[in-house]
Amino acid sequence: MANRVLLSLTLFISLTSVLCEPFRFDNFSLFKVVPDDAHHIKLLQDLQNSDINYDFWTDPVPSAEFVSIMTSPMNKVALEHFLSLHGIKYEITMPNIQEAIDKETIKTYTRNNLRSMSWDAYYNLSDINIWMADMARTYPDVVTEFVAGVSYEHRQIKGLKISHGPGRKIIFVEAGMHSREWITMSTACYIINELLTSTDNDTMAAARDFDWYIIPVANPDGYVWTHTDFRMWRKNRRPFGTNFGVDLNRNWNNNWLVSGASTNPASDIYAGPGPFSEPETRSLSSFIRSVGDIDMYLSFHSFSQLLLIPFGNTTEPVGNYHDTLNIGRRAMGALSVRYGTQYVTGNIAEAIYQATGGSVDWVKEHLQVPIVYCYELRDRGQFGFLLPTDQILPNNEEAMDSVIDLIHQARRFGYLSGGSVGLQVSFILMLVGVLASLW
Ligand SMILES: *[C@@H]1O[C@H](CO)[C@@H](O)[C@H](O)[C@H]1NC(C)=O
Ligand SMILES: *[C@@H]1O[C@H](CO)[C@@H](O)[C@H](O)[C@H]1NC(C)=O
Ligand SMILES: *[C@@H]1O[C@H](CO)[C@@H](O)[C@H](O)[C@H]1NC(C)=O
Ligand SMILES: *[C@@H]1O[C@H](CO)[C@@H](O)[C@H](O)[C@H]1NC(C)=O
Ligand SMILES: [Zn+2]
Repeated sequence: MANRVLLSLTLFISLTSVLCEPFRFDNFSLFKVVPDDAHHIKLLQDLQNSDINYDFWTDPVPSAEFVSIMTSPMNKVALEHFLSLHGIKYEITMPNIQEAIDKETIKTYTRNNLRSMSWDAYYNLSDINIWMADMARTYPDVVTEFVAGVSYEHRQIKGLKISHGPGRKIIFVEAGMHSREWITMSTACYIINELLTSTDNDTMAAARDFDWYIIPVANPDGYVWTHTDFRMWRKNRRPFGTNFGVDLNRNWNNNWLVSGASTNPASDIYAGPGPFSEPETRSLSSFIRSVGDIDMYLSFHSFSQLLLIPFGNTTEPVGNYHDTLNIGRRAMGALSVRYGTQYVTGNIAEAIYQATGGSVDWVKEHLQVPIVYCYELRDRGQFGFLLPTDQILPNNEEAMDSVIDLIHQARRFGYLSGGSVGLQVSFILMLVGVLASLW
């Protein structure tokens, strides 16, 4: 997915950054294209690989039910012409991307006022970090702040650990690695909030029973850039000549550059000069390795409403694939209860595209984490990365429902049980038994 819109916009971006104003997407539009057959998919793939300036928000993979394409006003007519000519169905879901951007309310979080964090708006990096610090101060017995790494521009990658005591199994949550996927940072913050404030029995039990490590913004430089300069930015901000950025979810050291990644720094899926070449992935991966045995790892992305299972290099079921497929499908059933939102569960290579070098493949392969999923949150191409603020809360609620159900289902399949707390108890019982028999 060479992002040629970005290429052609480089000049504009450098001009606007001189003016300190974000790039405007006036009259850019979003097409939701619905291919009927393999021939349509092939045509769309050719279009993606041609020299025309379209930004494919989703890829024309063989299993694609829809393909989201953003076009500048200049190339819009040509796109319509191309689709009509080949009889490919489409609708323009957003005729003016800038209008959708303007509608994305960004609120201010006020230090020491937890009520000023709400779920009908987005927040910038410094506000998310201040809120996390306030949460840690408000719940000092269970919450500790941690720094999981550092970015190219020397920003800290921050997170919260929620723990009601030692010896618990670990659930690790990472979000925001692709900076334009704003709903994912909000979902991670919501999970933190629920684990600390919910009065729901299952949620309280989930908070008590596990050590949670939650990182809302894994790509802080990119996230800042989406606020200050270019809303559709995906990568980090490391310069390569006149180009910028490595796709951090193609830079992990597992099947690096094997598929679905690019060697071209101008591309939106540039894998970087080498595996773990980026400070973000290097520091984050060593932090993840350092926390100990992780039992469940969740990575949040958007959009398409998918629950993805490693690996990204093959459609073959590897390891406990069938268990994780069953666990995931049931949890997506739980997700649908509240608002009827439908997710599809499947292998990464099958459901989305062959894509390697992502975090979930690395934790699965190198840390042998038993339960690993990558979410692609709402929606299905109506608004894409620009999910309207009135969908933030529903999205977060249903995602939280599914996380709680993932825990239930994983336990039913024999995961997440026992643990060192259980071991300690059985050790004490054994000791008592030995002492009793000596008696
Ligand atoms: C967007 O399109 C409208 C209607 O065609 C036009 O009036 C307006 O000038 C355009 N805006 C920009 C910034 O190009
Ligand atoms: C984030 O937003 C707050 C207001 O909510 C503002 O004061 C602050 O300067 C912004 N920070 C950045 C890094 O843009
Ligand atoms: C929550 O747990 C409490 C105490 O165990 C119990 O009395 C209550 O019925 C539970 N509520 C629900 C909705 O299960
Ligand atoms: C895909 O990657 C996994 C993990 O690295 C590996 O075990 C497997 O052999 C690979 N499969 C193929 C077909 O390359
Ligand atoms: Zn993503």
